[in-house]
Amino acid sequence: MIDKIINALIFILPAYFANAAPVLFRTGKSKIPMDMKMKFYDSRRILGEGKTWVGFFVGIIIGTIIGALIWLIGLQRIYNFETHIMVSLLLSTGTMVGDAVGSFIKRRISVRRGRPLPLLDQLGFLIFALVFAYNYLPAFMDVYTIAILMVITVFVHYAANGIAYKMKLKRVPW
Ligand code: CTP
Ligand code: MG
Repeated sequence: MIDKIINALIFILPAYFANAAPVLFRTGKSKIPMDMKMKFYDSRRILGEGKTWVGFFVGIIIGTIIGALIWLIGLQRIYNFETHIMVSLLLSTGTMVGDAVGSFIKRRISVRRGRPLPLLDQLGFLIFALVFAYNYLPAFMDVYTIAILMVITVFVHYAANGIAYKMKLKRVPW
C-alpha cells in the first residue's frame, strides 16, 4: 500500500512542480494576464491578474523537465522515454489548465484574485492533471490510491504555500 502511494506521488510530481513553478519563478511580474484584462458577462475578470501566459508556459515546461529528470535518474520508468515525456507534458498541461479553470470558477462565484477557495485551490489542478493523463494512468493509480493522493495533496499544498509565504515568494499563505 505504502509502495503504491509513493509510486503515485512520484508519478504526479510533474503536476506538483508545474503548479509551484509560477510562484518559484515569480511569473506574476510578467503583467500579461491570460485573459488580456477582459471581463466576462458578469463584468468580473474572466481569470484575473493571477493567471499569466508566462506562468502558464513556465509551469508546463518545468513540469515536463521534472518528468524527464525522473526518468533519466531512473526514479520511475513505467514507459519508454518518449512516452514518459508525453505523459509529463499531459500532467503539466492539465495542471495549468486546471489552475486557470479554477480561477474562472472563483471569479464567477465572486472570489477575488488571490483569495482562497478551499479544495478547489488544492485539488482542481490535480483532477485536471489526472484527467489529461487518463489514458496513461498506471495500474497503481487506482481509485483508492487517488483518494489518498488527494488528501496528501491538500496538506502538501498548504505546507508548500506556507513556506512560499515565509520566503516572501507569495503575498498570502494559501
Ligand atoms: N501565476 C502566474 N500564472 C499562472 C499561474 C500562477 O503568473 N498561470 C503566479 C501569479 O503570480 C499568482 C501566483 O502564481 O499570483 C500564485 O498562483 P495562484 O495561487 O494559482 O493564483 P492567485 O493569485 O491566488 O489567483 P486566483 O485567485 O485566480 O487563484
Ligand atoms: Mg491562490
